[in-house]
Amino acid sequence: MNTTINDNEKAIIEKHNRILSIISHDLKSPMIAMLGFSRLLSKEIEMSAPDEKWLKMLKIIMDSGEDMLGMIEDILAMAKMEAGKEIIEFEFIEDLAKELIGIEKTFGCEAKAKGIDLSVVVKSELPVVRWDMKRLRYHALNNLVSNALKFTPSGGRVTIGAEAFDETVMLKVTDTGPGIPEEVRNKIFRRFGHTELCSERTKKGDGLGLYNAHLFVTQHGGKIWLDDLVNQGASFLIALPVDPTQDKTNIEVEKVKTNNRHKLLL
Ligand SMILES: Nc1ncnc2c1ncn2[C@@H]1O[C@H](COP(=O)(O)OP(=O)(O)OP(=O)(O)O)[C@@H](O)[C@H]1O
Ligand SMILES: [Mg+2]
Repeated sequence: MNTTINDNEKAIIEKHNRILSIISHDLKSPMIAMLGFSRLLSKEIEMSAPDEKWLKMLKIIMDSGEDMLGMIEDILAMAKMEAGKEIIEFEFIEDLAKELIGIEKTFGCEAKAKGIDLSVVVKSELPVVRWDMKRLRYHALNNLVSNALKFTPSGGRVTIGAEAFDETVMLKVTDTGPGIPEEVRNKIFRRFGHTELCSERTKKGDGLGLYNAHLFVTQHGGKIWLDDLVNQGASFLIALPVDPTQDKTNIEVEKVKTNNRHKLLL
C-alpha cells in the first residue's frame, strides 16, 4: 500500500482532522446523554408497565445510539492517531492467550446469536510481550473480529490465532465468510475505504476500522495485512515485535510470510 503523501495533501488531512475532531468531540456529549436517558426510560418501563412494543422501539434507539457513538469514537481515534497524538502505553502482558480469550468472551454472545463458531487457537507457547494491549484490542483486534462476525454467515467459523517466532508474534483473525475480492483488496485499509467497495458488501459500518487498525499497528511497530493465499473467507494477520520499545528492526512482511507460510495455513 502506498502511504506516502505530499505536503499539500498533509495540510488538507490536518485541516480535515481538526474539523473532524471538533465535530466528533462535540457530538459525543449529547449522544451519551441520549443513550443514558433511553436506558433509564427502558428500565422505568420494564419496572412499572412492561410493554413489548415500547421496549422494542427503545432497544432500536439504544442500538443505533451505540452504533453512532462507536462511529464518533472511531473518527476521534483516527484524527488523534493521524496527528500523532495517540499515546501508546506499553505494559508487560504475561498471558497473551488469556487476553485473546477475553476478546472471544466479549464477542461470544454476538457469535452465538449469529450461529457462528468463535474460537481461539494458540499453537505454540507465547512469550511475555510488551504491548499496549488495551489500544491494540480497541483499535485493531476488536475490529477484525467484529468484521469477521459481520461478514460470515450463520454456520460459519471465526478463529483468533496467535503464534510466536523469533522476536515476532503473529496474530491472526480468520473467517469462513465470502472473503474479499482481489480487485478491492488494496482499498480496504484506506480511510473510508468501504465507500469504494460494492454497496452490498459494506453492510453496516463507517469504513474506518481497518484504516485505524493499520495506523495503530504501524505506530506500534508492527504490520497488518490480508493473507492473499487463502482461497476461502478472509484472513487478517498482524505481526508485532515482542517488545516494540526495544526492537527497532523493521518487520519485513515478505520474510514473515515466507517463514510462516506452512504454519499460517491453519
Ligand atoms: N472479514 C471480512 N470479510 C469480508 N469483507 C471484509 C472483512 N473485513 C473487512 N471487509 C471489507 O473491508 C471493508 C472495510 O472494513 P472496515 O473495518 O475498515 O470498515 P467497516 O467494517 O465497513 O466499518 P467500521 O469498521 O468503521 O465500522 C468492509 O466494509 C468490507 O467490505
Ligand atoms: Mg469494521
